This record gives sequence, structure tokens and C-alpha cells, in this order.
Amino acid sequence: MSFPDHLAVRLESYIEGLEYGEDEYVAPLREAMRYSLLAGGKRVRPVLLMATGAVFGGDPQELLPTAAALEMIHTYSLIHDDLPAFDDDNLRRGKPTCHVRYGESVAILAGDALFAEAFRLICQKQQAAPAAKLAVMEEVAVSTGVKGMVGGQFLDVYGIPGEGPDTVRLLHSLKTGRLIMACVRCGAILSGAPEEQTARLTAFAAELGLLFQIKDDILDVVGETVELGKQAGTDARLDRHTYVSVYGLRESERLAAESREKALAELGQVRGETVDLAGITNYIYERRR
Ligand code: IPE
Ligand code: IPE
Ligand code: MG
Ligand code: MG
Ligand code: MG
Repeated sequence: MSFPDHLAVRLESYIEGLEYGEDEYVAPLREAMRYSLLAGGKRVRPVLLMATGAVFGGDPQELLPTAAALEMIHTYSLIHDDLPAFDDDNLRRGKPTCHVRYGESVAILAGDALFAEAFRLICQKQQAAPAAKLAVMEEVAVSTGVKGMVGGQFLDVYGIPGEGPDTVRLLHSLKTGRLIMACVRCGAILSGAPEEQTARLTAFAAELGLLFQIKDDILDVVGETVELGKQAGTDARLDRHTYVSVYGLRESERLAAESREKALAELGQVRGETVDLAGITNYIYERRR
């Protein structure tokens, strides 16, 4: 069971070919969008979406527009997360951050544009029955809004009343977990998964999303900047509420292992070929970047 690299390869060539109009006056904006989107990245979210579709016999190729849209939204969140008003980071995906390279205003707009272009891509390119397409767009909107990623980013920078296990879990479920869950749910919706299977996959994804951010917090402490492609130690510099700050390193590592077991147990309840989803789970647990 390993990470399905072939799905990442397909995604990569698809996003390479995406176009955002031909108007010359926005060429620098398009350049900034492509700079961040095509800078590498593990492509966990789109691969997760395609691998979920494959559980129910969906052709990964046909899920590319929505998979790419979710990677675009993730990239927008990274561009904004790195801004001086947020984490003030200079390195991302092994390159200078978008605002360092193009300036803050262009970086803000590149993020905004990636978000809107993601919805355009789903509307114009995703083949699906109208009800399924609407359900996908609703899922993406909900998962990225106040009850999802943006709400989580707000908690991260603004602080949450009460610090402890429950608050850090909520923070992680919102800022990172909810978008990861959306990838799984969109894959299920687009491949016509039965409702009870979607519910099981949703439980799996909730655990996977939490695992993802626990690992991210651990890597911020034990990882190497060169390998991570982003500056290690940012959380401590900003005095952020993380699994490591709440539980300490060793307990966080134990919780990550526990989270992987829970995710795999949930996955075991899903009918169908789930070997790629198990491979992604192991990869998220074992990753060093
Ligand atoms: C980093 O995400 C931001 C978080 C939500 C923790 P990734 O670790 O998936 O970053 P890329 O896409 O591989 O660059
Ligand atoms: C970012 O979390 C989460 C989102 C962008 C939604 P982090 O701030 O921990 O991500 P990194 O460590 O900069 O990649
Ligand atoms: Mg952050
Ligand atoms: Mg950050
Ligand atoms: Mg982090």
C-alpha cells in the first residue's frame, strides 16, 4: 500500500494545461497564480479525491476538473497563509513565497483568483448530472467557508477562548480537516457512492484530516527546512496553538499513530477497493515533508 503517484502525475499535467484567459493586462497575475500552483506540492488533496472516486469504479480522469479545483483552493490558502498578516513566511514549496516574489497585493489577488477560477473550472469542465454538480459546489463552498477552512484560519490567528485538547482538535478539523474531507466527499458524490458508504468515508476523512495537521505540527518542530520546502519552526515563532504546544512532541507522535489506526479502521468499513486510500493514509503518517 503506497501513495498512488500515477494520480499525482495526471493531476500535474492537467493543471499545467489550465488557462485563465488571454488578456495581456492580467499576464502578471496569471504568472503569479501559476508560480504558486505549479511549484510542486504533494498533491494529496486531488489524489485523495480521485482515489475515492476509484473506490466506486469512477474513472480518475473524469474527476480531474474538481480535483484540480481543490488543489487550486488549497494553493490559494497557502498563498494567503504565508502573507505577513498571517504566518509571514518566505519559503513555500521550496521557492520564495508568492508575496515575496510578486508583492503582497498581487499575492492576495492571485489567491482570490485561484479560489474563483476553481469554481469556474467545476462549472465549466466537470461532467456530472446537475444535482451531483450542485452538491459538489455546495460541498466546496461549505468546506472552505466560515464552517470550514476560513473559520479555522480565523481561530488560528485570532485565538480561541480556552486552550486545550478540544480547542486544538476543533482548530485542526476546521483549518485543514474540512478541505480534506471535502476531497473525499466530492470523489464519492461524483462517482455515485451510496449514502451509507459516503457517511463511512466521511468518518474516515475526518480522522485523516486531523492526522494530516498533527503531522504538520510535528514536522514544524522536527522537520528540516530544506526537506519541508517551507521554514521549520514557524509555529513556535508565532506562539501558535498546535498539537505539540498542547501535548508535547512524544504524545503528539502517539496521537498521530492512534489517528492513523482510527482512520484505517474506518476505511475497513468501506466496501470496494480502498487500497489507494490506505496507501495515502500511510503516506500522510510517514511523510517527512
Ligand atoms: C500544507 O499543506 C498546509 C496545511 C494545510 C497543513 P501540504 O503539506 O499539503 O502542502 P503542499 O501542498 O504539499 O505544498
Ligand atoms: C495552514 O496551516 C492551513 C491552511 C493554509 C488552511 P499552517 O500554517 O500550519 O500550514 P503551513 O505549516 O504554513 O504549511
Ligand atoms: Mg498558518
Ligand atoms: Mg503557515
Ligand atoms: Mg504548519
